[in-house]
Amino acid sequence: MSKSKSGKPMVAIVGSINMDLVVKTAVLPGPGQTVRGRGFSSMPGGKGANQAVAAARLGAEVQMIGKVGSDDFGEHLLMCLNKNQVDTAGVVVAEGVSSGLAIVMVDGRGENSICIVAGANGQMHADDVLAQEEIIAGADVLLLQLELPVPTVLSAIRLARKHAVKTIVDPAPAAADTPPELLNVDIITPNHIEAGIMVGEPIKDVRSAKTVASALVAYGPEAVVVTIGEKGAVLVDKSDRIRHFPAPKIRIVDTTAAGDAFTGALAVAIARDEKLSDAIRYANAAGALACVKFGAQPAMPTRQEVEELLGRQE
Ligand code: RIB
Repeated sequence: MSKSKSGKPMVAIVGSINMDLVVKTAVLPGPGQTVRGRGFSSMPGGKGANQAVAAARLGAEVQMIGKVGSDDFGEHLLMCLNKNQVDTAGVVVAEGVSSGLAIVMVDGRGENSICIVAGANGQMHADDVLAQEEIIAGADVLLLQLELPVPTVLSAIRLARKHAVKTIVDPAPAAADTPPELLNVDIITPNHIEAGIMVGEPIKDVRSAKTVASALVAYGPEAVVVTIGEKGAVLVDKSDRIRHFPAPKIRIVDTTAAGDAFTGALAVAIARDEKLSDAIRYANAAGALACVKFGAQPAMPTRQEVEELLGRQE
């Protein structure tokens, strides 16, 4: 049963809020190469904020904890979260600091390369999280990513543990030396590239995804869900359950934030007390739908869109 008064699933997110500066290009430039862009737009993004918008559009009550800068971007980013019914009482405006930024390049096949500049996200400290203990304690699920400083994320994990709040960590961006405590949570949701970096073994197919996910279980999470793009997701859990969940077939426009839609949807389904296998099917549909539209937050699907896609599959 949800902790919220409304009976809606309650999701809290401690995470990044970025302005995405997005360039479309036929091919992504390699080192030392200059390529021509086909268009530019700025859109709200940041893994934390994208997951917040995803969860809100899928029907959860969502509380965002984070920081924006005292600039025009910060004002716009807050407005976008509020427009999507995300509660931003836990978001602080950091004076004299720029908002987080991401330079996103999307190629003709919808693949992307992203470079982030932390800005205000880098000013989110453990104390800022401790100040929001009430929000975390009141959540059904806490959602975290790695675009905030590691000690900040760790303080959120410890608070969630103190209040027995289920925790999902999307370990992105990934590092080979990710502290094991960051992964010692209920569920982690790396994509195939991140999982490969953490384990030091590239994922090439569903089979190698299962091997790498099994290695990640040793870090302590109850379950590892590795997303593998068009091929869907692989689950490995502590009771040695190993399963592949194929993704719905869609026409890809832009894969940016597909993983955020996936993790946001997984959090909502878990907060609704769904079985993990059903939650992964739901998340697969949300992740696929995020690829049919351009951009990060603008592409997050609604509950109706996800349910229609799942209905069509059955
Ligand atoms: O996951 C996509 C997101 O990664 C973008 O919105 C960008 O801001 C970076 O955080």
